[in-house]
Amino acid sequence: MKEKKKECEKYSPGYSKKLIQSYQRRKVNREAIFFTPHLHSKMNLLDCGCGPGTITVGLAKIVSEGKVTGIDIEVTQIEKAKKHALDQNISNIQFQVANIYELPFSDNSFDAVFSHALMQHLKHPLNALKEIKRVLKPRGVVGLRDDDQGSLILSPHNSSMNKVIELIKKSMKHYGGNPKVGRQHRELLRKAGFINVEASSSCEYDGILEETQKRGDLAAELITYMTETAVKMNWATIDEMKKLSVDCKNWGRNPDAFDSIIWCEAVGWKE
Ligand SMILES: C[S@@+](CC[C@H](N)C(=O)[O-])C[C@H]1O[C@@H](n2cnc3c(N)ncnc32)[C@H](O)[C@@H]1O
Repeated sequence: MKEKKKECEKYSPGYSKKLIQSYQRRKVNREAIFFTPHLHSKMNLLDCGCGPGTITVGLAKIVSEGKVTGIDIEVTQIEKAKKHALDQNISNIQFQVANIYELPFSDNSFDAVFSHALMQHLKHPLNALKEIKRVLKPRGVVGLRDDDQGSLILSPHNSSMNKVIELIKKSMKHYGGNPKVGRQHRELLRKAGFINVEASSSCEYDGILEETQKRGDLAAELITYMTETAVKMNWATIDEMKKLSVDCKNWGRNPDAFDSIIWCEAVGWKE
């Protein structure tokens, strides 16, 4: 029998400089504040898709008498995370390259599993959640957080910025992701068999020039990264992409600029 061709799933944003810098600004007492009330100091915790590890290190400070493991599919992120933990003098932490669909841990290994901004990039989030459930101990807690790309607001209206958002969503879908998975956390967790599932949300916003400028420059960088796919797929021409990039930068430098997006969060427990 002919072997079935593997379906394509790729982490669409890539690992460009400004994007990783934006992840490095994340911290446990903002991005994981919905989850930390469920933690205690002796827990053994897993962070899936830990990226450069700033939230992971924050979690390790909370489970100070326990242990944290961060996994990511990308070796450069694991290297950054290890360096960050070392710089912060955190010793109850380890990082390793691994795929969330096939976690290299025995059943019932962790008291808590966290995953920030990964579900939206997965083609099969339900399979990933079932894998999380496998490695969680009974009565263990899971916490998810993803921004929902259907919730972004921008002002002043700018057709180029709107086009960029559409391209980001298209690219995510093209590579197997779901830009609106955040709103489905509760449904997915329940389908995976978690109980007492509770969803919540919080807003991220850019409301001062320094922040909107960073946002515009990040959008411009993402456009550059996406150009090859966009041209290949006939979503835009090279010249259009170049113009979008310039427009994004200009939008961020407008002193009236404001943007905000909803981050969807959910917690659930293994029975
Ligand atoms: C948006 S980043 C979030 C990083 C970090 N959690 C944060 O919020 O700052 C998503 C991360 O998930 C990783 N990733 C993508 N697919 C993965 C998979 N199948 N298994 C494990 N990690 C994955 C990517 O390499 C990337 O570092």
